[in-house]
Amino acid sequence: MTAPLLELRGLTGGYAQTQIFQGVDLVIEHGATVGFFGPNGHGKTTLMKTISGVLEPWSGDVIFEGRRMNRAAARGSRRFRNFNYDAVTRRRMDPKDVARAGLIHVAQGNLLFPEMTVTEVLSIATLAAAGRSAPAGRTDVAALFPRLAERRHHKIRYLSGGERQMVSIAAGLLAEPKLLILDEPTLGLSPKLRLELCQSIRQIKDMGVPLIVIDQDLAFLSALIERLYLFDHGRIARVLAKDQIPGHDALMSMLFGEAIE
Ligand SMILES: Nc1ncnc2c1ncn2[C@@H]1O[C@H](COP(=O)(O)OP(=O)(O)OP(=O)(O)O)[C@@H](O)[C@H]1O
Ligand SMILES: [Mg+2]
Repeated sequence: MTAPLLELRGLTGGYAQTQIFQGVDLVIEHGATVGFFGPNGHGKTTLMKTISGVLEPWSGDVIFEGRRMNRAAARGSRRFRNFNYDAVTRRRMDPKDVARAGLIHVAQGNLLFPEMTVTEVLSIATLAAAGRSAPAGRTDVAALFPRLAERRHHKIRYLSGGERQMVSIAAGLLAEPKLLILDEPTLGLSPKLRLELCQSIRQIKDMGVPLIVIDQDLAFLSALIERLYLFDHGRIARVLAKDQIPGHDALMSMLFGEAIE
């Protein structure tokens, strides 16, 4: 039996001494497209950063294609000593290893280099493929995002929020992902750009790229994904199959216990 694409076992993590999420168990099969939905500030981004090794997991395991990406769990007391152990030992999890394995995380908030041009950013992104070739093959970014082709010589700082988001996703695709995490890709976009981006994300799915998409737009998510994880207070509160996903109001009452007037 082949190992699942991604498996999380009892993953717990946070910032410094603040625990943000706990005991997250998750299995994502090859070819799956899943969504995450939940209230602001409950730890979705922190979880994704931990999956991609940007943040250190406190305990639990991140297993990608059968390979454990984190080293063995640290002793429980380690974090609370005065001695900064982390500064002198290798990280428990290295984001470079994770990216090289093909788990590519497009972070929330368009973290790009403002002084570089679109072409420059995208040419660096192809290096992240590290000789790997994704099941979906090399992406024709210009066909997927015609707007970027028009703006290829523009510096990132002169692009709109939606265009920057397109650059971030295009860069993620050029890294030949085996699994692509998109964290709130449509946040704060104008309706027109948002529609364009949603269509591009659907095309990415149709190209066969497995996706984890975090978004607040339930209609968009429901049309895209096969399974929705409701994330609440740092835990997966419920898992809903596509045909079990209710409307926005019903989902809110599922999360908060009662309908919001
Ligand atoms: N760098 C940081 N240091 C300390 N605490 C942080 C940091 N970044 C986020 N937090 C806190 O961690 C908690 C979870 O934040 P996170 O960004 O993971 O939530 P989220 O579910 O992604 O929210 P949103 O839907 O608004 O994107 C919040 O209470 C937030 O204030
Ligand atoms: Mg977030």
